[in-house]
Amino acid sequence: MKTWENNYKNLKRYNNYPHDFVVSETLKHFKNVNKIKALDLGCGGGGNTKFLAEQGFLTYGVDASQTAVNLTKKKLVKSKKKKIIKANFENLPFKKNFFNLIIDRASLTHNTESSLKEKIIPEVGRVLKKNGIIISLFWSSNHSDKIYGKRIKNEKNSFCNFKKGSFKYSPIVFFSSNKDLKQLFINYEFLNMTKIQEKPTIGKKTNNEYFLIVVKKK
Ligand SMILES: C[S@@+](CC[C@H](N)C(=O)[O-])C[C@H]1O[C@@H](n2cnc3c(N)ncnc32)[C@H](O)[C@@H]1O
Repeated sequence: MKTWENNYKNLKRYNNYPHDFVVSETLKHFKNVNKIKALDLGCGGGGNTKFLAEQGFLTYGVDASQTAVNLTKKKLVKSKKKKIIKANFENLPFKKNFFNLIIDRASLTHNTESSLKEKIIPEVGRVLKKNGIIISLFWSSNHSDKIYGKRIKNEKNSFCNFKKGSFKYSPIVFFSSNKDLKQLFINYEFLNMTKIQEKPTIGKKTNNEYFLIVVKKK
């Protein structure tokens, strides 16, 4: 079975560096980080978490993979203000209204649409303060590699068992539309929603398409 733990532990597949959108949007919205609590949701290899800690945020990270948690902790040895925990997004071990900022670099999008709607988005909303911000990346329903996966039963746009392509090592992918995201984040104000289409003009005929969003809890 494909799992994130296997990706990290055995295949050593993870990002070491922060994502450019995470960096630019975080710096845009948080000039003063004194006493500001930030959560890296699905911290993976810890690149984005390290960026948050270096900026001076009170930095938290969660991931379902123990190896991801260990990798992230290792990146933050010099930082004192941090807490990295193994947890599932459905049950976050934090008090309500705790965070000012939640970073989600392609972690929520690796859950089914139904679990996002019913459990995960409400749970994320519980731990985020009013006017708190989520910076997120979701794969688009127009992504060309969707065809390599198998649609999950009773799900409209969530896929698994990818035979090849960009999601070969992903257990689950929810591919969303603009409308799906508006619906998912219905209790939030959209500060930014950008659709990125990476269509190479030479070489492979792929369309790496995704949404970058910034939402504020109302
Ligand atoms: C595509 S990776 C992204 C990792 C990291 N954010 C980055 O930018 O490199 C998705 C991560 O989210 C975690 N994840 C996905 N769904 C999860 C859930 N329901 N609970 C906890 N972790 C989850 C996975 O373990 C994995 O580390």
